[in-house]
Amino acid sequence: MSQEHIPDQKLIDEIIAGLLQEQPSISPKFFYDEIGSHLFEAITFLEEYYPTRTEKQIMMQYGEAMALVIGKCDVLLDLGAGNCEKGSALFNSLMPKEYRALDISKEFLEQAIASLQKEFPQIQMQAQTCDLQEEMVFPDLVGRKKIFFYPGSSIGNFDPDAALGLFKNIVKVCEGNGGLLIGVDLVKEHKVLSRAYNDALGITEAFNKNILLHLNRLVKTDFDLEHWEHYAIFNEQLARIEMHLRSTQSQVVSWPGGQKHFDGGALIHTENSYKYTQEKFESLLVGAGFKNVCSWTDPNRYFLVAYASA
Ligand code: AVI
Repeated sequence: MSQEHIPDQKLIDEIIAGLLQEQPSISPKFFYDEIGSHLFEAITFLEEYYPTRTEKQIMMQYGEAMALVIGKCDVLLDLGAGNCEKGSALFNSLMPKEYRALDISKEFLEQAIASLQKEFPQIQMQAQTCDLQEEMVFPDLVGRKKIFFYPGSSIGNFDPDAALGLFKNIVKVCEGNGGLLIGVDLVKEHKVLSRAYNDALGITEAFNKNILLHLNRLVKTDFDLEHWEHYAIFNEQLARIEMHLRSTQSQVVSWPGGQKHFDGGALIHTENSYKYTQEKFESLLVGAGFKNVCSWTDPNRYFLVAYASA
């Protein structure tokens, strides 16, 4: 997921516009510089952060059933592939002819693919840069059965409207064949949700604050981490965990050509992580145009893996 690159003006403008809003925000895509990607990986090992291991259990327990429902797979498209670990775990059951790993940075994917290719020489592999906030098109894959894979409840980091837009895009690209295998975090006891984003070791806090260091490099802002703290709460009405950075004092943050004053207690919104009920998630998929949805969950009903056929 790392996206270390030469900052382009479009990204810089996007960040500054976000900071200057009345309710300042930074897109969560800026979490994933090199340190941020490692911190996220560490989060997935935390006892408090149940989604990763729960999804893995579901995939292990129902992998065969999923493969039966999915059927033939010409191309496996792995959205937000990162180190390709989750996508490649499907190779033996889905036996795709082609694997396309998509993420914000191609460099990181290429390294992962280079070693995977040796292990699975029969699968054609390609890394492709992809920003899921923009429309996806695959002119070279027309007519082939495409299975999209979007694990980890990354869909929760989109507002429901944007999630619907992404699903509609996938339905369109599938051309009435193939579908989407997707993992999503379910609504549950607030204490469990809150702990997952406020871990005792402070890894999520470091992950959240690191976004400011990333901005300091990209935009040349002068955020001082000493004066910001992690704040994560469950917004029950909107069924989402919200992560913010809270200013611990009145301060001015400057960058070349601009500045912003933050009062003590002022917030910068860095992430939403939506949680769904099974019913709500399935109707979102159907509303986007998918024909059938099959879902699998764990005994606690903490997490859901769904296959929606296009
Ligand atoms: C990547 N995404 C699904 C994670 C989540 O749970 O929303 C990112 C994360 N943020 C804090 N902890 C993990």
